[in-house]
Amino acid sequence: SRIEVVQQMGATGMVPVFYHKDLEVNKAILKACYDGGARVFEFTNRGDFAHEIFGELVKWGAVHTPEMILGVGSVVDPATTALYLQLGANFIVSPILSAEMAKICNRRKVAWSPGCGSLTEISKAEELGAEVVKIFPGQQVGGPEFVKAIKGPFPWSSIMPTGGVSPTRENLTAWFNAGVHCVGMGSKLMKKDPEGNFDTMAIRAATAEALAVIAEVKG
Ligand code: 3PG
Repeated sequence: SRIEVVQQMGATGMVPVFYHKDLEVNKAILKACYDGGARVFEFTNRGDFAHEIFGELVKWGAVHTPEMILGVGSVVDPATTALYLQLGANFIVSPILSAEMAKICNRRKVAWSPGCGSLTEISKAEELGAEVVKIFPGQQVGGPEFVKAIKGPFPWSSIMPTGGVSPTRENLTAWFNAGVHCVGMGSKLMKKDPEGNFDTMAIRAATAEALAVIAEVKG
């Protein structure tokens, strides 16, 4: 349910964000993050065949990562939203705020997180029923200081910044002290080896380390 998605986002505190054109690489990344303790994941809709990879990943995950909550990000229109819901997306993330997307997700009682960069946008998103509002691109829009400033007038808002979040103690401490619900993390979590391939051991370790820091900061 949407409540479980929102709660699990907050409980673990970090949503790995990933995409690769090769299905097997996606499985390896997902498993590495899962073994590191992550439970909520955002697969990004990049490229014309992303939905085919996603469909396979849902089936694979049911067997290999059973506690996984898998959402889809980089969705910007209602048709694509409907497609991913049909394929089993547990939640939808967008870089923009779209009332048409909100309508589809609300009708199906699926959690959705629209990308916002101002108080007016956050306010609109919450009126449309968003439980967790994504701040995007998090660092560029203003970073932890921006979130802290938002939480003054909007203490009820559940905020998830994505974009520029890194798994260092310093960065995670800044975001969580500013009051985020959770963070989305892509490139800085997805460690690569010297040849440029994803390093699953390093990804698993970075995930576990980041989750430990988050748990500590949240107390
Ligand atoms: C993306 O654009 O892929 C996501 O926003 C992830 O951002 P990041 O790579 O800066 O974490």
